[in-house]
Amino acid sequence: MSQAATDTHALGNGLADPRLIVALDVPSVAEAEALVERIGDEAMFYKIGYQLAFAGGLSLARDLKASGRKVFLDLKLLDIDNTVAKGVENIVGMGVDMLTLHAYPKAMKAAVEAARGSDLCLLGVTVLTSMDAADLRDAGYAALPQELVLHRAAQARDAGMGGIVCSAAEARAVRKAIRPDMAIVTPGIRPAGADHGDQKRVMTPGDALKAGATHLVVGRPIAAASDPAAAARAIRTEISSI
Ligand code: C5P
Repeated sequence: MSQAATDTHALGNGLADPRLIVALDVPSVAEAEALVERIGDEAMFYKIGYQLAFAGGLSLARDLKASGRKVFLDLKLLDIDNTVAKGVENIVGMGVDMLTLHAYPKAMKAAVEAARGSDLCLLGVTVLTSMDAADLRDAGYAALPQELVLHRAAQARDAGMGGIVCSAAEARAVRKAIRPDMAIVTPGIRPAGADHGDQKRVMTPGDALKAGATHLVVGRPIAAASDPAAAARAIRTEISSI
């Protein structure tokens, strides 16, 4: 990474709000580094998903941590208990801040055990927001999406997970089903007037926090903006009073 992107002092003004997580949904580490550099002090928490993880993003995660930033690995793990546990042990060793798993009780329990004593916040993905009732029926589930979300949120709570990923529309109901100290991380965030893209159920940053979200994942409204720093600053300003 370039010096500007790795300089811890660049984040020293204390303005960056850790409730704003910028999704690094770009194809390469070079593009991710350029985006982080353009955002500068306006954000300090970054999400790395499948696309970037499989193009060098895991080493970028280490660099971002070394520069004083926070990292959310959105890897949505699910496997047999032993495999999940061993994977989580190595992710703990990377020192990242958040990690997603599909919210299946055995996988969650194995992950919680593997992460015990570390600062890694394990997040349960309840039901993918791309799935509707017909998709669930197709996959063999009798429950409606909202029922399954709350069922799995309660299972994540019981497994000792650190939080939940859900749509902002579900945040209020999920908040009632989980421990007060659990994080609620919501994608599908769109500042008023922003292009919705392929997101169907969106909420503004302020409304999502009021509904119970603790962290907001924002991708294209920042990454695709002509001035990503200004876009991040506008969100930071909107949420600063909440
Ligand atoms: O560009 P946009 O703000 O829509 O990006 C949202 C991010 O959150 C993307 O990285 C997307 O994969 C992720 N996400 C989502 N819906 C979910 C879970 C994750 O949009 N249910």
